[in-house]
Amino acid sequence: MSTFIERLARMAESRKTAVESDNPSVPRRLVPAHIERLKAYQPGRPADQLKQELGIEHFINLASNENALGPPASAEAAIQAAMKEMNRYPEMGGIKLREALAQTYKVKVGNVAIGSGSESIMANIIRAFLHGDDEVVTSEGTFIGFYVLVNSQGVKLKLVPLKNYQFDLEGIADAISEKTKIVYLCNPNNPTGTVFSRADFEVFIRRIPEHVLVILDEAYFEFAMGVADFPDSMTYRYDNVLTLRTFSKAYGLAGNRLGYGLGHDYLIGFVNKVKLPFEPNNLAQAAGIAALNDTDFLRRALANNDAGMKMLTEEFERLGLCYVKSHGNFVMLPFPSQQTVTALHEGLLRQGIAVRPLHAFGLPNCLRITVGLPDENEAFIRAFSKVLS
Ligand SMILES: Cc1ncc(COP(=O)(O)O)c(C=O)c1O
Repeated sequence: MSTFIERLARMAESRKTAVESDNPSVPRRLVPAHIERLKAYQPGRPADQLKQELGIEHFINLASNENALGPPASAEAAIQAAMKEMNRYPEMGGIKLREALAQTYKVKVGNVAIGSGSESIMANIIRAFLHGDDEVVTSEGTFIGFYVLVNSQGVKLKLVPLKNYQFDLEGIADAISEKTKIVYLCNPNNPTGTVFSRADFEVFIRRIPEHVLVILDEAYFEFAMGVADFPDSMTYRYDNVLTLRTFSKAYGLAGNRLGYGLGHDYLIGFVNKVKLPFEPNNLAQAAGIAALNDTDFLRRALANNDAGMKMLTEEFERLGLCYVKSHGNFVMLPFPSQQTVTALHEGLLRQGIAVRPLHAFGLPNCLRITVGLPDENEAFIRAFSKVLS
């Protein structure tokens, strides 16, 4: 007589065989060609997995442009308090956080969208405005998450090459056609760290027809806001520009998944209409309100970044390495070949340090390093010097 557990195991096994042995042509027909072709976003391997694989205790992650300071204590406390309401759905309009953001940016609540990361708002913009024959124009060598979202919609994505690792705004404006619905700009750009200037943006925006929506992804805004001619999109209010910002970078809340979009209330209304009703969750919203008011944390995050960027770039110069001047919390180095990049990446991993090789971004000769804490940056430079030699 078999036990209940044994019977369950047999049932699970037989179900598995049934699913796996089905004629694959049946489920395959369910998948649209553009989804079958889709290259999914490949994140870095999780720290715990790497520690286990490499048999190391301590691991330094400089691969994902996160905030090395950790989360703001104010956000942790706000999450703790909000946990008491975890049995409740979040208030659907996210009004408290949207009001706080509206106050910060001196706009109306109707001008603000919130989501589970700025990438979720990007997805909602794409869902709300793209269909059929629409086309999207952006640059090569920019945020891969955007490519994945557009490709998953099955619309045409036109990519304009980078010019000297910078967005070629003129080339992008030239690539716009009658069918173009969305242009995506990332400033500062991930992974190059480059910014385009106010003057370049002003020339560009004059060339953009009214039927085109410009997404200005400013995920790294806080790190660049001090740059004299940085075109802070919130100082321009064009009706066809949507700004995206996030709590994942300077505010240290990447795992919390919280971002926001700002723009004309007519367009924001549609972005909110297609969003999942209860995102972001109530802990994320509470953390966002606390972080937004935590100017001390932001100041410390920016100071750590400035000092770390200075130290890393001075060391690169001492080592005779080329790097691209960055205005984000990361810096990109071009090398002569992809083989060099792979060897450096793997050599660093063996010493317990993860950085980001950029082949998936279309920059196979480049490596991206996120600014860490002072001792992490020092450990990276020690390991890097060793691997280089
Ligand atoms: C340029 C850019 N945009 C958007 C995102 C997504 O950020 P979020 O965590 O807000 O979804 C990232 C994350 O790395 C990014 O680099």
